[in-house]
Amino acid sequence: MRKDKNKSFPTATLFAWYDRNGRDLPWRRRWPEMAPAYHVWLSEIMLQQTVVATVIPYFLEFTRRWPSIDALAAAPADDVLTAWAGLGYYARARNLHKAATIVAEEWGGEFYPLNGSCSYDSHLRSLPGVGPYTAGAIAAIAFGQQAIVVDVNIERILSRYFGVETPIRTVKNDISAAYQSLLPVDRPSDLPQALMDYAN
Ligand code: ADE
Repeated sequence: MRKDKNKSFPTATLFAWYDRNGRDLPWRRRWPEMAPAYHVWLSEIMLQQTVVATVIPYFLEFTRRWPSIDALAAAPADDVLTAWAGLGYYARARNLHKAATIVAEEWGGEFYPLNGSCSYDSHLRSLPGVGPYTAGAIAAIAFGQQAIVVDVNIERILSRYFGVETPIRTVKNDISAAYQSLLPVDRPSDLPQALMDYAN
């Protein structure tokens, strides 16, 4: 349960802090510019189990070698796995290549749902390796959607700020509700990134 359910979150203060202190990362853009979905997706998959400092050179090498999702899809899977060496958790690399093939061959190279018949995150979640967190991150950071993005860092900030004291079974719902209470916000792509940087 959230003890401070009616507290409002100081997003304007957060954004002012982020404008001064946010990290410059190669996959990042500042509102109103948004990073290409290919970059956001690639970085989020790499960051799933790996820290930012380790990911940066891999991200730069992948985007140099395969500048688009079509180029990545066209690469032999073995080349992608070899380039991934050192990042660990190889299922991520296999899923990355499978997802690239789906986007390139079945979605016309676009992450955006072409017919607009479903929400961004349910569409994105159909890709191998893309769970609710990653789908929300792509929807918010690449498409400016008011999507819920909760990683461990954001969870820590929100649970402290809103005084979440919940049995572990329901904590995820309470944190999502806390995130939802921050929305809509005027810089939807900056919100999760500002929260992540603030927690670092
Ligand atoms: N960790 C996961 N995604 C991130 C992002 N977009 N910026 C900084 N740290 C992250």
